[in-house]
Amino acid sequence: MDLLQGINTRQSIRGFKQTPVPESLLREVLQAAGRSPSYKNTQPWEVSIVSGKTRDALADKLFKLASDNTAPHYDFPAPESWPAAMDFRSKDHGTRRFNALGIGRDDSKLRNELRLQNFKFFGAPCAAFFFMDESLEHWSTLDMGLFLQSFTLAAHGAGLGTCMQASVSGYPEAIRESLGLPSSKKLIVAMSLGYPDMEAPINSYQSTRMEVDAFTTWHR
Ligand SMILES: Cc1cc2nc3c(=O)[nH]c(=O)nc-3n(C[C@H](O)[C@H](O)[C@H](O)COP(=O)(O)O)c2cc1C
Repeated sequence: MDLLQGINTRQSIRGFKQTPVPESLLREVLQAAGRSPSYKNTQPWEVSIVSGKTRDALADKLFKLASDNTAPHYDFPAPESWPAAMDFRSKDHGTRRFNALGIGRDDSKLRNELRLQNFKFFGAPCAAFFFMDESLEHWSTLDMGLFLQSFTLAAHGAGLGTCMQASVSGYPEAIRESLGLPSSKKLIVAMSLGYPDMEAPINSYQSTRMEVDAFTTWHR
């Protein structure tokens, strides 16, 4: 798969096969992601990959927290509001995703069940957690974003699916506790990871994008 094809065909995956992912393949993906650029080559990324019993125990713990409606406490506060255009895109995305699954606007029960799937990692056999040290600032967050995109693309190229999850990232203390990490390691984002199940109806949803001229100004 060439680079442009990879970028254009990646999508968030929310339904996975049970097939375990070989550690050697994950190492290849991590090695490629580690080639990401970073400010002064500081490479601030720290990654935890969970599978097997650790994954199952963590999923149970997160699912309970979310089912009990435990208030999330993000390491990096989630936005409380968006500028109008972004607010529109966010709501439009939600509507389209529910429509694709035939879930009605007022079906709060099904909508909540779908939300809770996040905390079971959508059935993925692996989950990844991306941390950076609390001493770091804005530029390192940018580096983390670059690493994350490289990771998702390398995973896609390797036949794996990913879904970044702000939802899961709302319980960083519980995650750190399970992974034996100190509170100085700040959780940027969680991710479900595994072989995509393209038969799963949820994966038929294709997100939309702005046209190039909607976000570009040409100064000729
Ligand atoms: C930082 C970040 C957090 C996200 N959190 C969630 C999440 O909690 N649950 C989810 O289903 N998708 C989540 N997504 C996936 C986005 O909804 C998705 O990237 C976007 O709608 C575009 O769709 P695509 O990835 O299929 O192109 C997240 C994506 C990013 C980059």
